[in-house]
Amino acid sequence: MFKKIAYIFSFLLMIITKPADALNNGLALTPTMGWLHWERFLCNTDCTNDPKNCISEQLYMQMADIMASEGWKELGYDYVCIDDCWLASDRDSQKRLQADPKRFPSGIKKLADYVHSKGLKLGIYEDVGHKTCAGYPGSLGYYDIDAKTFAEWGIDLLKFDGCNFDNLDQLVKGYIDMSNALNKTGRDIVYSCEWPLYTWDGGLQPNYTAVRHYCNSWRNFADIYDSWSSIKSTIDWAADHQEIIVPAAGPGGWNDPDMLVIGNFGLSRNQAVTQMAIWAIMASPLIMSNDLRNIDGYSKSLLQNKYVIAVNQDALGAQGQRISKSNNFDIWKRELSGNSFALVFLNREEIGGPRSIAVILNDLGVDSSCKMSCVVTQILPTYEQWGRKNLTAVLQFTVNPTGSVMLRVEPFSN
Ligand code: GLA
Repeated sequence: MFKKIAYIFSFLLMIITKPADALNNGLALTPTMGWLHWERFLCNTDCTNDPKNCISEQLYMQMADIMASEGWKELGYDYVCIDDCWLASDRDSQKRLQADPKRFPSGIKKLADYVHSKGLKLGIYEDVGHKTCAGYPGSLGYYDIDAKTFAEWGIDLLKFDGCNFDNLDQLVKGYIDMSNALNKTGRDIVYSCEWPLYTWDGGLQPNYTAVRHYCNSWRNFADIYDSWSSIKSTIDWAADHQEIIVPAAGPGGWNDPDMLVIGNFGLSRNQAVTQMAIWAIMASPLIMSNDLRNIDGYSKSLLQNKYVIAVNQDALGAQGQRISKSNNFDIWKRELSGNSFALVFLNREEIGGPRSIAVILNDLGVDSSCKMSCVVTQILPTYEQWGRKNLTAVLQFTVNPTGSVMLRVEPFSN
């Protein structure tokens, strides 16, 4: 009898505490972390002239080796993900997808085994429509077969693109059908969608309740480039649409502003700090696209900054928002577990030197941390303990052009 009551109680508790309408596969309870080839390696299929950088099994094996041996995995970067251009140009005689036999001679299952042997997970890419964005066979008409193939291969994440569909109804149905097909396989496969991006592109506002119900993460906005203007427009799109997109995020489902491009060619150090800080405060998936075989020390330590990762991975799963925008300073705030907060101060000025900003804690809505007194720690661009403060404290500091200062505010406890 007692057992029965306990069961009913825990069932009720599950219903009450379950995040509203999250894809119920128990995955991505914090934002996904890992590596994806697209921004850095694009659709380079020329293994004859560029064997080191072409899309081949070698590339993922080498990234997996480094992710396992150079501290990435321990920090949470555990998905090694294939993007477009891995496919052969045709399905096999049983209509199953197959990898390009020249570039993936061992096949995807073997690659998955290898990645798993390193304690990592393997992600793959397909498209809801007739063809992928780069023109390889799409999944339309084959969702069940493809989901089953991915599960049999040991795939752990599917990035599902949205090129080459006939109309928006077909696109939406396709995303839902693939979600159901993945669930039916019984394998844990994180489902990363681009459904909202293509819906916005089609001139409609996506139904984020439905998106969250079927996907573990979803792209909203244009592809990221290795440039400050791309980072800026991605950040601004998120801030300008925050009333629509922020409520959709939470454990199990996340807004995805696309890959981290830190460690490539286009961002200054300050801009790299800004991407890391804003991606963390937005509870974004942290999916790097860079060459881990050849990454500078500054980028590596920024991507491996455990304090920033802790903000990104905070268990509460509340996505942060821009709370003010004035005098070319943007201020972002994210609520964290334990009555704590993260704050980012972004200096948008692109001329001159470091600019000074002064803020009063009381004006930043951090009362639940600082009612009695709180502890303020700067975690970017460098780690500095600022010590104990109260609500009326004035914080004064400088922020470099296009750079950010990130703070963590926690209740004081002795
Ligand atoms: C689209 C996606 C990108 C990438 C390419 C591959 O543009 O948004 O992230 O997957 O397709 O072709």
